[in-house]
Amino acid sequence: MRILAIETSCDETSAAVCEGDGDSVRILSNVVGSQVATHERYGGVVPELAARRHAEMIIPAIKEALARAQEGYARVDAIAVTYGPGLMVSLTVGVETAKAFSYASGLPIIGVNHIEGHIYSVLAGGVVSYGKNAESELTARFFSAPALALIVSGGHTELVKIERYGSYEYIGRTRDDAAGEAFDKVAKMLGLQYPGGPAISKLAVNGRRDAYDIPRPMMDSDDFQFSFAGLKTHVLYSVEKLKKEYGEDGFRALIPDIAASSEEAICEVLIAKTARAALANGISSIIVTGGVSANSRLRELFREAAFAYDFTVYFPQLSLTGDNAGMIGIAGYLKARYTGKYDDAFTLRANPDLRF
Ligand code: KG4
Ligand code: ZN
Repeated sequence: MRILAIETSCDETSAAVCEGDGDSVRILSNVVGSQVATHERYGGVVPELAARRHAEMIIPAIKEALARAQEGYARVDAIAVTYGPGLMVSLTVGVETAKAFSYASGLPIIGVNHIEGHIYSVLAGGVVSYGKNAESELTARFFSAPALALIVSGGHTELVKIERYGSYEYIGRTRDDAAGEAFDKVAKMLGLQYPGGPAISKLAVNGRRDAYDIPRPMMDSDDFQFSFAGLKTHVLYSVEKLKKEYGEDGFRALIPDIAASSEEAICEVLIAKTARAALANGISSIIVTGGVSANSRLRELFREAAFAYDFTVYFPQLSLTGDNAGMIGIAGYLKARYTGKYDDAFTLRANPDLRF
């Protein structure tokens, strides 16, 4: 079964072709058009601009994905599209495009939850895993046993318990900023380029992780909720103080230390909460996905946690950590295979607040 997949939930315009066979599914092509250049001057995503760029880029992206997979339109069996959660105006471009294709071609349409897409990105191959079962190959059968997913991106910080395919429970989330947002805002205070995560990560390599005492909000609370607003405010006050003390030039030399200390704080909170949630639920398989899961320090610390607590931790291949249609095609295939249900091309609507 071949799936044409479309993803426009935030600021990446993406189309992909995936092929599923039994419990295996692979990505044949995955075209991702980044809008970083459109939004960087604003230091964050501007929804109206994102939607306009999606409208311009989605058809060329679909054409390119079909060409790269060497699939004519006639050889696709279904169309999968992200219908939530995300930005309403962005989601609508993808959903309405998919509906138009479905109507014109008669192909069935599969509405996909964006979070489910991030979770199943680990099925694409190239997964990086640590811990006791790290060697075992992942296929859809993996999801017949309980797992815990940490989804960390610019818009999400969620802990989802997966009982089996199709059975999910949110057990934790952020009360304020998402983890990626925390990276982006700290980066902005340090005068680094948007998006801030990669910039912080690069500088942190040359910084001391214990140079500054950055708070780890809610790290020791008994629940599985996150909060990053306090950390951000703390860094803001520290930056102002250090600038006064050292002057702009002197301050510049401190940036790697601040980056490293902030990165450490964010990563430690994510790992502590995830590990506690896994232990409390008797789960030993952990999936970490979303843009922030590209972070090398996060991967390193999760690797240590895997050995300390006897977990197996799975990360998607780097190219699939951010938003992309390949992961939507995988989730769409699984939905068709395991539920046999398709959506109605006339009534499917974008749902910015979609939950499981
Ligand atoms: O999944 P994604 O591409 O888009 C959203 O759905 O938000 O995630 C983007 C987020 C941004 O906040 C970006 O700063 C962060 O992921 N990010 C990183 C790294 N690469 C991307 N954060 C920390 N370290 C990285 N290496
Ligand atoms: Zn995402």
